[in-house]
Parts: sequence; C-alpha cells; structure tokens
Amino acid sequence: MNILITGGAGFIGSHVVRRFLKFYPNYNIINFDKLTYAGNLSNLKDVEDNPKYTFFKGDICSLDDVTNAFKIHNITHVIHLAAESHVDRSIEGPLEFAMTNVVGTLNLLSVAKSFWNEGEHVFHHVSTDEVYGSLGEEGLFMETTPYDPRSPYSASKASSDHFVSAFYHTYGFPIKMSNCSNNYGSHHFPEKLIPLMIGNIVNMKPLPVYGKGDNIRDWLWVEDHASAIDAIFHKGKIGESYNVGGLNEWRNIDLVNFLCDLLDKKLNRESGTSASLITYVKDRAGHDQRYAIDASKISAELGWKPSIKFEEGLEKTVDWYLNNQDWVDEVTSGAYQDYYKKMYS
Ligand code: NAD
Ligand code: TYD
Repeated sequence: MNILITGGAGFIGSHVVRRFLKFYPNYNIINFDKLTYAGNLSNLKDVEDNPKYTFFKGDICSLDDVTNAFKIHNITHVIHLAAESHVDRSIEGPLEFAMTNVVGTLNLLSVAKSFWNEGEHVFHHVSTDEVYGSLGEEGLFMETTPYDPRSPYSASKASSDHFVSAFYHTYGFPIKMSNCSNNYGSHHFPEKLIPLMIGNIVNMKPLPVYGKGDNIRDWLWVEDHASAIDAIFHKGKIGESYNVGGLNEWRNIDLVNFLCDLLDKKLNRESGTSASLITYVKDRAGHDQRYAIDASKISAELGWKPSIKFEEGLEKTVDWYLNNQDWVDEVTSGAYQDYYKKMYS
C-alpha cells in the first residue's frame, strides 16, 4: 500500500504519519505537504530516517505536483488532511481557504480518479464538526445533522465535503470521510486556543479570551483522532462518513482557568498568578457557540473510543510544551510573528 498523506507536516497529520509508520511497517507513507506556516518538518524529526517514509513537497492545488506524486510513488490510497485550518485567519482572508480547502481537494480528487482505474483504493477525507454550524445548550452533531457552516473556514470545509460526496455518488469513487471535534496535544500550532494560552501563561502575557468565554468546544486528544482515522481507513465503509469526538465539553473560560491552575503548580507560582492574566477581548465575528459530537456510530460500528481523560491529556500537553520551547520558537518565527502581533498586541 502506497499512502499519500496530505498535510502530514501539520498538527494532526504528523500524528497520523507517526501512527501509520508505527503500526503498519509494510506501508509506504508519502507525506505530501506545501509547508505553509503551519507545516513543519521538525514535527516528524523522529521518523525522517524511516525507510518507509518519504516527504514530497507539493501544493494540493497544483495539477503537476499532485500528478507527479501519484506517478513517482504509484499512490494507491490517500488520507487527506492538508488545509488552511484556523478560523480567525479565515475571517481575515477567506480566499486562501477556498483555494486550498475547496480547489485543492477537488484537484486531489480529480487526479486520484484519473489514476485509479482498477484495484483497491481509498480516499479518506478528514474534515471537521464545524461544518454542522453551532449548537444551542442541547443536542449533539450526528452524521445526519444538516450542514450549516458559518465561518469562511467551515464553509470551505463543508464545500470540500460536498465535492468528496459528489465524487462517490457521481463516479462511484471510493471515499470515506470523518468529521472531528477540536483536537489538542503536542505539535499544535500556537495560534490555537490551548497552545496559545500555554505559551502566554509561561511568558506572563495577557490571555485573550473572546467574548464572555462561555463558548463550548468538545476536546479530543490528537492521538485518539489518529486512532479514529486508522479505524475508519481500515474498517469504515466506502461512501460513509463518521463523526469523531471526545464527549468532553468545556467552556473556554473553564479550560483557560484549568490551564492557569495547572501551570501555577508546575511553575511554582502563587495560586491565581496566571489567572490574573486573563483578558476578555472583542468576540470573534460570528463566533459559534457550542460544538459537541455524537460519536455513537464510530463507536458501535468500528469499536473506537477515546483512550485518555482530558485532564491527563492536558497535563501531558502542558509538559510537552514546557519541554519543547525550541519547537515553539522555531515554528513561531518569521511570518507568523506579523500575524500574531496584528491579532494580539
Ligand atoms: P494544520 O494547520 O496544523 O496543518 C495543515 C497542514 O496542511 C500543514 O502542514 C500545511 O503545510 C499543509 N497545507 C496547507 N495548505 C496546503 C497545500 N495547498 N498543499 C499541501 N499542503 C498544504 O491543520 P490541522 O489542525 O492538523 O488539521 C488537519 C486537518 O484536520 C484539516 O483538514 C482540518 O480541517 C481537520 N480538522 C482539524 C481539527 C483541529 O482541531 N485542528 C479538528 C477537526 C478536523
Ligand atoms: P480555536 O482553537 O481557534 O479553535 P476553533 O475556533 O476551531 O474552535 O478556538 C477554540 C475556542 O477558543 C473558540 O471558541 C475561540 C476561542 N479562542 C479564544 O477565546 N481566544 C483565543 O485567543 C483563541 C485562539 C481562541
């Protein structure tokens, strides 16, 4: 099996690459990534000498890049994670999200379709629960929940999901799809809530909480997302989509306070020191109130469930960031700094 993993140098992609190399030593893994600000080969330093691993620098929007990757590596399977992934950036500049997430996905589908005439193939499209919109106090997102994207990011992901489904229904193309809730863990780019807060607490910088801090997210350990992708890729049904989530809803402000308390202890600070940095800032435009996933389909059909409690995963995550300040410095140098200054200073 020659698997093209797109976006393998990003947060979730790097965990998927690592997991597949570890558990499936016969597979050839080709990490196809453009290395945007969010993609860093240092995320995969520990596997770069593995003979079953190859890095291919390319853009999913480029017909030549994708065609060359398929030709050179005789790609038989795809796990598609490459995307622009940050909601705040999509509000600042939606066009890039349409290009990468919609046009890039369509380009990838089209090239795969042109190569895959016979034999066993799978195109696993990795998507988000944000395509379903925003929940009130009650209810959970199910696979049957109508799409109602509300940010440019979720609109672009919803559109890519529709193209993936369209390829299945129109051409019988062998797709599988997953829609997952918010991930957390190591190698998470420090523009997203959890790593941003950890870094700011460590450096005694303000902790920007949007609005009232009462928005709710359903957090999942990134390695549990990788294990869900593994289960769907190997055992999921062609043409089906699966919701993946942690059954783990937290209000943003409670999560930030939890991190403050944890880091006060780890950094031997007086209790309440970090929480005094909390700063309520202007709310995100169109901020979705609540996301929460009903993961009963993947659990009943594929036997998947989260492996780790949130408090335990958060502590591991905090420890990883405390021990990997070099990584943070490396990935936040250059272009990211300009964006960060614009957003948070
Ligand atoms: P990320 O931003 O950390 O990584 C994205 C990767 O895609 C980077 O390595 C980047 O270089 C690469 N990339 C971007 N544009 C590209 C292009 N044109 N061609 C090739 N590579 C390109 O994202 P992530 O958080 O790891 O998310 C991965 C996928 O999972 C995305 O599709 C995202 O929508 C989805 N997802 C993310 C979450 C989450 O909580 N982070 C939750 C559910 C679903
Ligand atoms: P984020 O990590 O950007 O993920 P998403 O928007 O995809 O859910 O944000 C998680 C939540 O945290 C979301 O409700 C917005 C909020 N948030 C803040 O309050 N402050 C911040 O600095 C960031 C980045 C996010």
